Amino acid sequence: MTKWVRAHTNIALIKYWGKENEEWIIPKNNSLSLTLDAFYTDTQVIFDKTLKEDELILDNVMQNASALNKVQRVLDEVRSQAGIQLKARVESKNHVPTAAGLASSASGLAALAGAASQAAGLSLSDTELSKLARIGSGSASRSIYGGFAEWVKGHDHDSSFAVPVDDADWDIGMLFVIVNDAVKEVSSRDGMRRTVETSPFYQGWLDSLDKDLRDMKAAISERDIEKVGSIAERNALKMHATTLGANPPFTYWTAESMTAMTAVRDLRKQEYTAYFTMDAGPNVKIICRQSQLTDIKDKLRPLFTDDQLIEARPGPGLHLVDQSQPTI
Ligand code: DP6
Repeated sequence: MTKWVRAHTNIALIKYWGKENEEWIIPKNNSLSLTLDAFYTDTQVIFDKTLKEDELILDNVMQNASALNKVQRVLDEVRSQAGIQLKARVESKNHVPTAAGLASSASGLAALAGAASQAAGLSLSDTELSKLARIGSGSASRSIYGGFAEWVKGHDHDSSFAVPVDDADWDIGMLFVIVNDAVKEVSSRDGMRRTVETSPFYQGWLDSLDKDLRDMKAAISERDIEKVGSIAERNALKMHATTLGANPPFTYWTAESMTAMTAVRDLRKQEYTAYFTMDAGPNVKIICRQSQLTDIKDKLRPLFTDDQLIEARPGPGLHLVDQSQPTI
């Protein structure tokens, strides 16, 4: 019987931003993330000889062909490794609190790599799963692991995969500030391409990364959350600065993102450990101590509703779901 596979999302503290090779999703730089418990995807894959095309059913809704793009990349690789031609039915349930509006390609493509490979009878190592998830979506390579993971850029399909760094079994957490603004979206894929091709700031970003990564790994091994947070915040700001130099320029920030970032700086003045990071969207993620999550949430209540504030703690790596139906 095919099983449901669960992968949790991850948030990068050192961002992946730019591809060396678009076809195989080989990145320009190493990145480092924290996998979180609050958001995950459950996926089941069935290879079925009665199917004429691959199908993707996401949260009980059949998806159109364009949504299948990334999924098919992973399915094709699995078919080629397993020596099968059968089409697949992919069923996925995203566990994302209502109104979160968070993209979930990291958890989605990692869960798919696990579910598709096991449905095809392949028994892959974590390294092989990470490579398989990567060709669906780069950040998914890191969701194979719980805690902190580093995606080592490598130079081709075989050398580009994530490795575990630390289980994050210490006092670190994240508070998601969900900003529901109707912004015109530039996907991370398009945004990073435009930045690599046109932003004069992109080289500056690349040049500063080795030090950020080295310092971040030292901070993690010392369990120094002040250092982890401040390096992550500076790294995110540098990534977002590259988009302003692109042609045409763009930003993922909205007025509400700015409100959240200012609130984080205010929290620091009140002696809280709080730093922010942002990805290819307006939501702000606050890196803080798990033990201060509730206090910080209380402090932000005058600015944001309860639905907008979601607590997250370090989460596990890819695993089978121990039941016949997943919970949603
Ligand atoms: C800003 O992994 O979504 O979140 O590889 O094109 O699918 P593709 O991009 P994706 O990019 C994530 C970019 C980021 C930073 C990060 O997660 O490292």
